[in-house]
Amino acid sequence: MSAEQAGVRHFLTDLDLAPEELQQVLRLAEFVKQDPYALRPLRGPQTAAVFFDKTSTRTRFSFAAGITALGGAPLVVNPGEAQLGHKESIADTARVLDRMVSLIIWRTYAQTGLEEMAEFSGVPVINALSDDYHPCQLLADLLTVQEHLGATAGRSMAYLGDAANNMANSYLLAGVNAGMDVRIAGPAGYLPAQEIVDAARERAQQTGGRVTVTTDPAEALRDADVVATDTWISMGQEEEKEHRLQLFGDYRVDAAAMRQASDSAIVLHCLPAYRGVEIAAEVIDGPQSVVWDEAENRLHAQKALMIWLLTESGLADESTAAQVGSILGDRES
Ligand code: CP
Repeated sequence: MSAEQAGVRHFLTDLDLAPEELQQVLRLAEFVKQDPYALRPLRGPQTAAVFFDKTSTRTRFSFAAGITALGGAPLVVNPGEAQLGHKESIADTARVLDRMVSLIIWRTYAQTGLEEMAEFSGVPVINALSDDYHPCQLLADLLTVQEHLGATAGRSMAYLGDAANNMANSYLLAGVNAGMDVRIAGPAGYLPAQEIVDAARERAQQTGGRVTVTTDPAEALRDADVVATDTWISMGQEEEKEHRLQLFGDYRVDAAAMRQASDSAIVLHCLPAYRGVEIAAEVIDGPQSVVWDEAENRLHAQKALMIWLLTESGLADESTAAQVGSILGDRES
């Protein structure tokens, strides 16, 4: 890493924020939700590159709207529109882009691509979903839990379904990072990789969080404060559809599942949702569902993340850095 790149903060996995840093981002998110245009670190406007190798609605709009609200200009690049990854290496792309843009946001397949981008970038790189993690989604989910349940620490969160996918990994890691009791349930062979579980357990020791990985949905659901699920057929798995519908049938979030959770449990789904598949319509459209707040919170949480990364990287203007210091109050900076 060059001297220029030293000290630049990136957000590639849920554990790239230390527990106290995660709390700072969530506090900033609450602030920007109340006062959306008070912080404008991208005024100029500065450009933020937003690459999509996969389709998106929420991520696309929340980043584009968030960058604009921070005073910047999003440059959204759709699949196949740039040389990135086929005609030009990721490293060379990073070396060029960081002379032109203030942030690089990328939805892609391999986590290693994001790591290479970050290694060669002098501006923050943000994972907007990879095959392994969806950490921006979890910032929104934790903000939603905090809003509806008052706090994250000590609350229990059950995730049911494809427990080997990027959302399960991120629920596990981000949940324990926020001090939650995270229970992940899926069929044998579709549970988080051991290295993810080990990393979650290690972080849980710092935060008071707890980790349960089980094939028994009842064990995960028992009195849970939060019930979460995700599509059973992620992008690129369409050919496995029939097999997956059979495989995950016992892990559907329906009324029977909700009866096992706390009476006051809230329901999360990152969307898009398939009613009648991983989640019953009566649940996602019912009174315990907070999925629309969760979707909106993508905007606020990602704005907070971008402000925080720019500030921590020493790339925010003095006025923004001072405002952030004042909002976070007790932060040592
Ligand atoms: N939840 C989520 O990432 O939505 P999109 O795929 O629409 O961006």
